[in-house]
Amino acid sequence: MSWVTQLARPEVLRLAPYEHAAFGGPRTRLHANESPWRLGGDGSQAGLNRYPEPQSPPLRERLAQLYDVRPEQLLISRGSDEAIDLLVRAFCRPAEDAVLICPPTFGMYAVSAQIQGAALVSVPLRAEAGFALNVPAVVDAAAAARLLFLCSPNNPTGNLLDADEILRLADRLAGRALVVVDEAYIEFAGRASLAAQIPRRPNLAVLRTLSKAHGLAGARLGTLIADPEVIALVRKLIAPYAVPQLVIEAVSRLLSGDRPVQRASRIATLCAERERLSGALAASPLIARVHPSAANFLLLECRDADAVLARAHGAGLLLRDVRGHAALPWGVRVSIGTPQENDALLGALR
Ligand SMILES: Cc1ncc(COP(=O)(O)O)c(C=O)c1O
Repeated sequence: MSWVTQLARPEVLRLAPYEHAAFGGPRTRLHANESPWRLGGDGSQAGLNRYPEPQSPPLRERLAQLYDVRPEQLLISRGSDEAIDLLVRAFCRPAEDAVLICPPTFGMYAVSAQIQGAALVSVPLRAEAGFALNVPAVVDAAAAARLLFLCSPNNPTGNLLDADEILRLADRLAGRALVVVDEAYIEFAGRASLAAQIPRRPNLAVLRTLSKAHGLAGARLGTLIADPEVIALVRKLIAPYAVPQLVIEAVSRLLSGDRPVQRASRIATLCAERERLSGALAASPLIARVHPSAANFLLLECRDADAVLARAHGAGLLLRDVRGHAALPWGVRVSIGTPQENDALLGALR
């Protein structure tokens, strides 16, 4: 019995997934109860009268190239939010299994665990050490967990977690838990993805998204990268035609051509703006500290968070109040905008 079979929910292992209509070949489709006619004005390639092919093989191939992994290691999801939810549903039995998180961190891990009825084990990041992982405490607490969600760079603190610590953790938990590293912001960190380690460490998984550095949040396209056995398991749970045809076509088009050059230049601008904004905000009397960030946002330690939020709001700018996190009673998170937008924020807080 493989470790995936031992960790997965037995109900999911037993599940016979929905059998979607077959795809491929030039045959006439009289098997899916679709309309035989395109709607006038339907400019899509495939025709929106047809269901999209699940896990579009050309898009999967394209994403595999982008992330430098094999297509069998990859599941396309509606944003990484959906992949988080699918992982929890695949591995955690309600009222029996647990998800481990390291707060303050991205909120969807806890939400998905709660929806599933899984227990939540929290091992806070070490605020005094730049929000680093508390490795011994994670190892102790992980005994109860099937899934660990580690976010690097972490939202909302902005710091990278130590890659060696994550890998050692995966080694310690081999066969006992899946260590999921959420790399939603990795493109802004100038660091390699941990996805390359998955063939050697099959209990490691990585989440990537097109919502941040790729500028495609509206497309809702995320990718789970994992051992092919994990992918096959999670694929049993995803809705049969999850990713719409319009998204498949738009994303395939937008990931090609000279856009990688545009993307690289925008990432460089954003990182330069992050450093400029960080230095300038630190000089504001309303702000005690700007935390170092490897992402496209900054965590502000405010002397008066209400005043920061109100001043920004008065200038037509929305910031994120993150004081709800126990470790961040002073926290406001600001996304890096265009140089003009960042200037507007500086003007408001001066
Ligand atoms: C760490 C992290 N993971 C995942 C997501 C969700 O990304 P997606 O748009 O791919 O669902 C976010 C969104 O803010 C995030 O901050």
